[in-house]
This record gives sequence, C-alpha cells and structure tokens, in this order.
Amino acid sequence: MNSIYRRVIILLFHAIVFCHGYRILAVMPYASASHKNTVVPLLTSLAERGHHVTYITGKRTQQLQNTTNVREIVLDMKVEFTVANRGADRKSFFDNIVEQPFKTKMEFLQKFREVPESAINSTFRDPQIRNMMETEKFDVVLISVITAYVGYPLAWHFNCPFIVMSPNVAFADMPFVVGDSEHTEYVPFIMSGFTSRMSLMERTINTALVHLTSKIPKIFNTPIYEKLVQHYLPGCPPLLEIEHNTSLIFTNTHPSISYPRASPPSLIEVGAIHCHPAKALPTDLEEFVDDGGNPAGFLVFTVGSVIQMDEMPDRILEVFKNVFARLPQRVIWQWKNQPKNLTMPANVLLSSWLPQQDLLGHPKCRGFLTHGGLLSTQEAVYHGIPVIGIPFVTDQENNMIKAVSDGYAIRLDWNNIDEDKLHTALLDILNDPNYDTNVKRLQSLIRDQPETPLERAVFWTEYVLRNKGAAALQLGSRNLSRFQRNLIDVYIILFAAFVSSMLAVTLAIRWACLRWPRK
Ligand SMILES: *[C@@H]1O[C@H](CO)[C@@H](O)[C@H](O)[C@H]1NC(C)=O
Repeated sequence: MNSIYRRVIILLFHAIVFCHGYRILAVMPYASASHKNTVVPLLTSLAERGHHVTYITGKRTQQLQNTTNVREIVLDMKVEFTVANRGADRKSFFDNIVEQPFKTKMEFLQKFREVPESAINSTFRDPQIRNMMETEKFDVVLISVITAYVGYPLAWHFNCPFIVMSPNVAFADMPFVVGDSEHTEYVPFIMSGFTSRMSLMERTINTALVHLTSKIPKIFNTPIYEKLVQHYLPGCPPLLEIEHNTSLIFTNTHPSISYPRASPPSLIEVGAIHCHPAKALPTDLEEFVDDGGNPAGFLVFTVGSVIQMDEMPDRILEVFKNVFARLPQRVIWQWKNQPKNLTMPANVLLSSWLPQQDLLGHPKCRGFLTHGGLLSTQEAVYHGIPVIGIPFVTDQENNMIKAVSDGYAIRLDWNNIDEDKLHTALLDILNDPNYDTNVKRLQSLIRDQPETPLERAVFWTEYVLRNKGAAALQLGSRNLSRFQRNLIDVYIILFAAFVSSMLAVTLAIRWACLRWPRK
C-alpha cells in the first residue's frame, strides 16, 4: 500500500482511538482487597467517560475484565501477610492474634516494610512496563501512597502531573507535602486508640507515634528506595523532590465518618467512594434472607480479606455457632474455602462470596458483625446498619472505637469473646433502638453531600488533566520548612525584639537614675 494512505489510516486510527480521552496511568502495585475497592470504582468511571486507563496492579481485577478502555498490567508481586506469620508450631495468624495480640499486630505491621521494595523491583523488572516506558505517553498518574516510590519515578519519567491516593486517612507527611501539617494536636494517629479530643498526655503520645511510625522511618528508608530506583532508572531525581510536585491528594475520609481536619485546597476527601445503593440479591440468597417472610431479618458476618475464617480457633468457632443457633434471625457468614465436615445451625448460611453492600442495603438486614475495616465501617454507615466490631489489626481498632463513641456499634475482643458476651451484644444491637437511630443519623450525614465521592474524585482527576496539574491550589507554605511553617523563626525574632526592648528600657531607666540621683 502507498505510504501516504498508510499514514492517513494510522492517523485516522489514532484519532478514533485516542482523541476522545486522556491517558491515565494508575500505579497501584499493592493490591489488597480494601485497597483495590477504593480505586476500581474511580478507574471504571474514568474509563466510562472515554479516558484510557492503564492500571498497574499486583492482582487481576475481576470487575475490570469486561470494561473497555482499561488495560491491566498484573505484576508478579507477593507480600504474604498471613502465611508468613505461621510459626514452627503451625499456628495460624488467627491463633496468634487471639493469644498474643500485641506481638502479632507488630509483626503484621513489619510486613508492610517489604511492600515498597517488592513493588519497585516487580514494577521496573516487568517487561510490559519497560516497553510501556519506552513507547507510551500519559497525561496524569494516579499513585497509591503505599507504593508512592514506584509512582513518583514513573510520573517523572512520563513528565506529567500526579495525584496521590490514600486508601485510608491522609497518612503522616501527606498533608505536610501539600503545605499543611499533621495536626497531631487533634488528628489521632490511626492506630493510637485516641479520638480527636486528647489530653496533654495523649497529644504527647500521639505526636511521638506519628514521628516514630512515619516521619523518622521516612528519613531512613527513602535513601534505600532511592538507590533501588536509581538502579532501574538512572538519572531519576531524588524521590522527595518529585514528591514535592504532588498536585492533589485523595483520602478515603469524610467528616461525617472520620474525624474532621483542617485541609488545604489540594487535599480532596473522597471517603466511602466505593459505596453504592444496594442491588437486588441473587435468587438463592434472597430466598434465604427472606426466610419465608419471617420478620426477624438477618445478620451479616464477615472479617475482610486478610484473615480466613477457616483459621478461626475451634473454641471461638463454637461460640459463634452456638450463639447464632439461639437467634431467630438468619445469618450469612462469609467463609472462603468451606471445609466439608462443618455442620452449621439451620439458620446459618456459609458463602464464599458475598455481595456485601447488597446484603447490608437489604431492607431485612438487622446487624453487621465485622472486623471493623475502614471500608466495612463505611458500608455499615452508608447502608445504616448497626455493628458488632471485633477488630484484628491496623486501623480496625480505631474505627471501632469511633463507631462505639458514635453510638452505633458494640466492640468485642477476639481474646475474650464468649457466648454470653456475644449473645448479649447481639440482643443489644437488635433490640435497643439507639444503635439504629445513631447509625441512621450518620447515614443521612454521609449522604448529605453536593455530589457523590466518586463524582468528586472524577471531577478533580479531570481538573488536573484539563489544567495540567493543580498549581493554582497550592499553598505558599509548601516551600517553607517545618521550622518556618510553625513560625519558630518568627517567634525567635519577636522574642529577641521583646527582650532587647525590655533591656533597653531597663538600661535607660538605670541611666536616668544615675544621671539625676535623688537629692
Ligand atoms: C516539578 O514540576 C516542575 C513543573 O512542572 C518541573 O519543571 C520539575 O522538573 C518537576 N520536578 C521534578 C523533580 O519532577
């Protein structure tokens, strides 16, 4: 074929394929279920609006398999949170958390330190990504804060603005990057167990915790990751210099369900972005929960994706079985890998996969037993369902402390749960109308917004696309050091001025006294 024709055809092809949308790169190698659930709705919406989304992830996404405009690059990256915690005695993570909660929680957090290194290696070694880096262009990069050190170099490489997304609150240093501070005087560290009103002692501990867990490790860890990045991408500027160019931050918070905080214009709250109205249940589930028209309703019991029900110690398993058997409600119990020899009471259904929000939003749902993960907590509020929270690790405890103080939850502990406690808690949730009133109040607050969090995230992503960044929103304080932002230099000058003027006055008086001595 004539080369001019060929060029025209290629141009036309490009016009059809590329002109309708921007090109978006989402760098999210860490792919826990809770992390994915906050990102996938945004990517889906952006793709539906005609943008071309490339999603770097550690795990294939079922929901995106039939979405046009989304290309997934699945990395070979594994950070195993549960199995690695099995000791020589073959104890499960569940056993450990029941027997030695503190030690196990610390070990769990330690695992997070492997994430950035593993993400950098698996991303920059991936042939698809290397190829993409040589041949493609992007207009914006969405970066998960958990693997920011993979995202920053890619944003630099593609020379485009980027948005940092947190699956949770604005972790320490994120607000600082955009010119604000951590406000440890009223923003509780997510694993501190504190609320937004802290005593002097609590504020001291809170401030120390933020520095010890985030800021100081960042100083020591960044050079390690920088060296690794340099190995793959020679010439890449210092990571913190790239970080300084952050356009926007998306956090998974909202004042109605998280603690409100002062927030610069470039910090956008998109909390409960994954929540959506309930859809009809599949027929078999619907028949089970309807229970032949029984008005008692049903309960939902899930513990998230990190911990498996089949690791539950037998003693605790018996507690749940026996208590559920005494209830007039039906119970839907999420259970991956169902064992064959497990007999359950007739009112209990085990299911490996649950349409969790469709169940919580069902008119007959009466209560939610949960590990208190952030997303589950948001879903409980969004669908207005009282909670029994039995937290394991990370922020779950704080989520439940807040839920209890907001009056819609009862908290139990894995290490001392028994039939009495569970039964009493369930009867309270089911029969005391206060729990329901409180959760309905929060439900109306979380829905009382000018647009949905998802619409907000889409708007701000497109804002960055249209304006090639968000320069107009950046605070002047971004270019000041912590010392300057806290006005310490200014107060030193003011103090010095005060002291020297006092000194001058004293000297003047003394001089005057000497000059005109009393007769
Ligand atoms: C930060 O952004 C500016 C303006 O777009 C650009 O010139 C600079 O190279 C960026 N810095 C880094 C380290 O990416």
